[in-house]
Amino acid sequence: MTIKLAVFDAYGTLFDVDAAARELAMRDPRLTPIWPQLAFDWRRKQLEYSWLREVMGEYVDFWQLTRDGLDWAMAAQSVQDPDLAEALMALYRELPAYKEVPAMLAALKALGVGRAILSNGSPEMLDAAVHAAGIDGLIDEVLSVASIRRFKPAQAVYDLVEERMGVRPHEVLFVSSNGWDAAGAARAGFRVAWVNRAGFPRERLPWKPADMLRDLSGVPDLLTPLS
Ligand code: LAC
Repeated sequence: MTIKLAVFDAYGTLFDVDAAARELAMRDPRLTPIWPQLAFDWRRKQLEYSWLREVMGEYVDFWQLTRDGLDWAMAAQSVQDPDLAEALMALYRELPAYKEVPAMLAALKALGVGRAILSNGSPEMLDAAVHAAGIDGLIDEVLSVASIRRFKPAQAVYDLVEERMGVRPHEVLFVSSNGWDAAGAARAGFRVAWVNRAGFPRERLPWKPADMLRDLSGVPDLLTPLS
């Protein structure tokens, strides 16, 4: 089956979510010993809050969830500093893309495969990240959950791809570094590549990715017919 469109998760997949804490730690020695745990807790709580709010039907946008997760992570480290929190949020708005992203997207473009983002992120934060990473010209469409006020892995989120782009699920390669998102996308009928950067065990969920990669550089090869 021909893949017409590659759809990417944003945070952790295209953009390095640990970079904000890691970068600020270079300037603020208070963060040096704690930034890895802070970054881990921040991400984990951001995701937990998205799942909890999805289950409870209590949507707030992902920027607010990101701030809520940061507040929890800072409290866990007994750090109370509004300026530090603001500095971390400012860096989160402009997270760097992983180094292989521009060449990978350009290779897909050369293959004639469309490129979109489907993310829990709010439109403003996604636009800022895409722009800061300099990949505006390589992404055709940015789909945010904000229009439906739901979060992944709700089916309604994955349905946005066909609704907005007119591409059937079996014509989509969905790429995510989040195992739970990869499972949700496989359940929705996409062909899925799980970018398992951290070498995590496979998810114990019934919906499997078709492919597992260690980074994004192998994505174009998945779409190149072997001769
Ligand atoms: C996203 C989060 C889940 O971009 O990483 O949707």
